[in-house]
Amino acid sequence: MPELKIGRRTFLKLGSTSIAASAASALVPTAAEAAAPVDTSKTKLPYPRKSVGQLGRMAPNTPISFTYPDAASPCIAVKLGNRVPGGVGPDGDVVAYSVMCTHMGCPVVYEPATKTFKCPCHMSIFDAEKAGQMVIGQATENLPRVKLRYDEKTGTVTAVGLEGLLYGRQANIL
Ligand code: FES
Repeated sequence: MPELKIGRRTFLKLGSTSIAASAASALVPTAAEAAAPVDTSKTKLPYPRKSVGQLGRMAPNTPISFTYPDAASPCIAVKLGNRVPGGVGPDGDVVAYSVMCTHMGCPVVYEPATKTFKCPCHMSIFDAEKAGQMVIGQATENLPRVKLRYDEKTGTVTAVGLEGLLYGRQANIL
């Protein structure tokens, strides 16, 4: 049988070609991987569940302070006394918001007479009855709304998430 002679250069060329072919095949998904793609639509932020208080102890139109989702984020819950979009409880009237103004972070103040949040720094006003909508002022974003759940059995109002980005953060969950 004749002996096959391969030069050093040919040997290196053949070797690099087979490595490239192996690398390319590693990038192609297998049939099993292609059949079961990852469903990214169900990805959720890990917002904590945090008790805001007992509904029976919430006086109408009187703010209750709490923090959510962490101690550095002051919020206010209010039982408005009339059903509003996003309100929870038997009367659909309990809402909660971050109190850091979306303009420059000053703490907004709840005004019961108008059911609005007013910022003392540059006079922005946010509507508590309309999901924290910015009414007037320097701010350009609505007040972040705290998502609430009401448990009929225990009478507890619980914070479960946020709509809108908290002032000064790149993400609500740090
Ligand atoms: S910080 Fe609230 S309007 Fe400027």
